[in-house]
Amino acid sequence: MKVDVLLGLQWGDEGKGKLVDALTGDYDIIARFQGGPNAGHTLEFNNQKHVLHTIPSGIFHSDKLNLIGNGLVIDPVVFKREVDRLSGFGLDIHHNLFISKKSHLILPTHRLLDAAYETSKGNSKIGSTLKGIGPAYTDKTGREGLRIGDILEDSFLERYKCLRDQHLSKIRQFDFPFDLQPLEDEWLAAIDFIRSFKFVNGEYLVNEWLKAGRRILAEGAQGSMLDIDFGSYPFVTSSNTTCAGACTGLGIAPGHIGNVIGIFKAYCTRVGSGPFPTELLEETGELLRTTGREYGSTTGRPRRCGWLDLVALRYTVMLNGVTSLIMTKADVLSGFDTLRVATAYKIHDKVTTEIPFDTETRVEPVFTDLPGWAEDISNLKDKNSLPENLKGYIRFIEEYLQVPVTVVSVGPDREATIYMT
Ligand code: GDP
Ligand code: IMO
Ligand code: MG
Repeated sequence: MKVDVLLGLQWGDEGKGKLVDALTGDYDIIARFQGGPNAGHTLEFNNQKHVLHTIPSGIFHSDKLNLIGNGLVIDPVVFKREVDRLSGFGLDIHHNLFISKKSHLILPTHRLLDAAYETSKGNSKIGSTLKGIGPAYTDKTGREGLRIGDILEDSFLERYKCLRDQHLSKIRQFDFPFDLQPLEDEWLAAIDFIRSFKFVNGEYLVNEWLKAGRRILAEGAQGSMLDIDFGSYPFVTSSNTTCAGACTGLGIAPGHIGNVIGIFKAYCTRVGSGPFPTELLEETGELLRTTGREYGSTTGRPRRCGWLDLVALRYTVMLNGVTSLIMTKADVLSGFDTLRVATAYKIHDKVTTEIPFDTETRVEPVFTDLPGWAEDISNLKDKNSLPENLKGYIRFIEEYLQVPVTVVSVGPDREATIYMT
C-alpha cells in the first residue's frame, strides 16, 4: 500500500478541506502532515459550513480514522475550540482522532512573539496569521520546543515555565504591550483538555496501517508557493508544504508515496504579503473576490485575487511530482468573455518560464487569452455537460502542465464535485 498525498499548489486556500472531505470515502485514514492553526479548511454539506484548523478534514466520516502528524504545531486552545464546535454538531472525535506525540506545541508566548515580530516589521510585514506558527517552528528547529508527548511528563509544567520565561525576555525587547495571564490560564486548561485524546507514536502507527493494507490520504496545509524552502521567501510559512513534508511530517519513506494530488483554483488568490505576478488590482480582481467569496477562513482578511498563473503551477507540479490535478472554483469564472492565463514571465525584457530568486524582481506576466463561458455551472454533475470553453480551458492547462485534471469542483458543497475520469 502507498500513501496518497493531497496538497495545495498555489498560495493556500485552494479548497483542500472540501476535496479531502469529498474523497474521504476512498480512504480509511486521513493524516495531516504540517502547518497548524494558520490553516483554515472549509467543508460544506447538508447546508452546513465547517472550518477546521488543526483537525484533519476526514473527521466528519465517523467510520474513518484521522491522524495529526508530527509535522504539525498545535495550539491546544484552538484545538479545544474546534473540538467543542464539533461536539455542538453531535460529533465525539475521541475514538477516531490520533495525535502524534512528536507534534509540537504552540505556547501563548509564541503567539505574542509572532505579533511582536510582525508589528516591528512595519511595511515589510509577512502578513502572518499571528497564530504563533513561525516562533513555534523556530523553537522546534532550535531544539527548544515542547511536544505533545511532553504533556505526559512530570516535568512538563516546569519546562513550560522555563520556555515561557525565555520568550518573555525576548518580547520585552519590543515595544509591545501584553497581558499573559488570561492567555496562560486558557492554555493550561486546554492542555488538560487535550490530555483526554490518544497520543501516539504516529510514525509507527502509520507504517503499521500501511502494512495492514489500509488506505491513507495525507492532507497538506497552505500551498507550495508558501513552502519555507521553495516559496517566495521570506513571504512564506515556516514548514515544508510540498510533498516531501508528507514524508517528514508523518514518518513515511519516500518510496511509500503513491499518487500526488495537486489542487489549484481556476484563478489565483493570495492572502498576506509577497509577490503575485498575475494580481488584479482593479475591478476584475474585486469581481473575483466578491463572486468567489475570497475572504480568509482563518483571519477573515480579503484575499488578493488574480488570473491563473501557469508558470507558478508548472513549478509546483515539478516540486511535488504531481500525478493528478483537481481544479476548484471553476464556477466563479462563469460570465467572463475572456480568461487570461499567464504562460511566461517577462523580466527585464527577457521572457522566462522560471520563478525568479529575488522577490523584489519586477515580473510582468505574459498572458494567453482563452474564451470564457456564460453558463452557470454550479449545479452540473456530469463532465459531459460542462461548457465547451471550460473543457478547452482544462485542456489548455493539462497540455501546459502535462498532468491530467481528474476532478473539477463547481461549488463549496461536498456534492458539487465532477469526476472527469
Ligand atoms: P483550503 O484552505 O484549501 O481548505 O481552502 P479554504 O477553505 O480556506 O478556502 C476555499 C473556499 O472556497 C472555502 O470557502 C470553500 O467553501 C470554497 N470552495 C471550495 N471549492 C469551491 C468551488 O469549487 N466553488 C466555490 N464557489 N467555492 C469553493
Ligand atoms: P490553508 O491551509 C492561505 C499565509 C499567511 C502569510 C504567510 C505566513 O488554509 O490553505 P503564518 O501564519 O504561517 O506565519 O503566515 O502564509 N498563510 C496562508 N495563506 N492559506 C493558508 O492555509 C495559510 N497559512 C498561512 O497569510 O502570508
Ligand atoms: Mg484555507
